[in-house]
Amino acid sequence: MPTAKTKTVWFCKECGNESPKWMGRCPACGEWNTMVEETVATGKKQSGAVMSVPGAGHKPVPLSHIDSSVETRISLNNAEMDRILGGGLVEGSLVLIGGEPGIGKSTLSLQIPLYCKNLKTLYVTGEESARQVKLRAARIGGDDVNCMIYSETLMENIIREAREMMPDLMIVDSVQTMFSQNVESSPGSVTQIKETAAMLLRFAKETGVPVILIGHITKEGSIAGPKILEHIVDVVLQFEGDNRGTYRLLRSIKNRFGSTSELAVFEMTGKGLREVSNPSEMLIPMHEEGLSGVAVSAMLDGTRPFLIEVQALVSSAAYGTPQRSATGFDVRRLNMLLAVLEKRAGFKLSVKDVFLNMAGGLKVNDPACDLAVICAVLSSNFDFAIPADICFAGEIGLSGEVRPVAQTERRVIEAARLGFKKIYVSSFSSLEALAGQADGIEIIKVTDVPALCRSLFKG
Ligand code: TYD
Ligand code: MG
Repeated sequence: MPTAKTKTVWFCKECGNESPKWMGRCPACGEWNTMVEETVATGKKQSGAVMSVPGAGHKPVPLSHIDSSVETRISLNNAEMDRILGGGLVEGSLVLIGGEPGIGKSTLSLQIPLYCKNLKTLYVTGEESARQVKLRAARIGGDDVNCMIYSETLMENIIREAREMMPDLMIVDSVQTMFSQNVESSPGSVTQIKETAAMLLRFAKETGVPVILIGHITKEGSIAGPKILEHIVDVVLQFEGDNRGTYRLLRSIKNRFGSTSELAVFEMTGKGLREVSNPSEMLIPMHEEGLSGVAVSAMLDGTRPFLIEVQALVSSAAYGTPQRSATGFDVRRLNMLLAVLEKRAGFKLSVKDVFLNMAGGLKVNDPACDLAVICAVLSSNFDFAIPADICFAGEIGLSGEVRPVAQTERRVIEAARLGFKKIYVSSFSSLEALAGQADGIEIIKVTDVPALCRSLFKG
């Protein structure tokens, strides 16, 4: 058989855009320095990469004739996973779990067959040996389950075995280690990643077997990553969190069968990942009253309200230039809030070092945390402890006004449920939907920062 002709093309490793020549900036996604050189086969041989879905190749059908019965979902015996998938894993779907190395992707996916003893699973590992997987399973505490481990990286073999076995679920760890003979470039390259995903998608759609695909993302995005795959797969779940901390967040970024604003919280323990069904409890540690520099924010991540402790430390600057540092919060936003405090409320913070920390290693980008941030800063500055049964939800505007935030009612209800006695919100918040669901909590409305200070730091 004559070997296929090859040519050199350039791919953007962020978005997968193809270009015949090198460019400093990808014209599709606008990222700099992301083009990588790859060799691809030309001519008909490339047709392996063409995606097909069930029914492809047939005649067009009227929309009204298409069977629309609800998709079958498989419960993973893990409430958090089921919820984030929109009520279970849909048959024939391709789910991508992305995250930095070491975050716990392999652990999370191995826990699925260990928790669902009668789910016939094919676990393909290209990163670890079968023995390593076994050791991990022993650590998590599962044995005697219906799970086959297959240590292989050649996609043609994997698909053949999968078609023979016809499992209830297939897990592929990871997309960066897999390769297909159809494509000339090395594993982990843009073309190989696309081809691997396309082959798995075709397998999933033709057989109805759901496939969970694991993909690494590095901080710099130096490996061709899951970004390229986002439009191919049905569901993208991103696993994030502080590698040193024990909490992990699983966020749904794309979901063709459910909502994308879902968030699940897990805790990495010595025996695998434990689901945290009530994240607020982990984020507001119970300590005795009287600690200054601490304020609790009623925040919302996606659609899920939870309460998080904001910690601040304000001290006189040791050197000429004051330091501002924030963990889990945007430093520019912190600087803006400090400027507002200085200009609109007259607090002299420009000569102070300010350190801010969000509990649990969480990254917060809900503007409703502004109010708790300035309260924590002021509390530390004056060494005045805020009572532990008070929480906050409000955005601060540039003129020092407290602005209403989305879904204030849900935040109030969550705060009341957790036993908070007072919540500070904007005067302009609409609370109609509350309808007596949060009776035990006093709602204090404030218009601006000076009014807040008067109410909170009386006397
Ligand atoms: P892993 O699932 O291998 O991460 P990934 O596949 O995303 O690269 O998990 C990595 C970390 O989790 C590893 O540093 C060890 C830790 N770990 C635990 O703390 N407890 C456990 O029970 C397991 C299995 C792993
Ligand atoms: Mg792994």
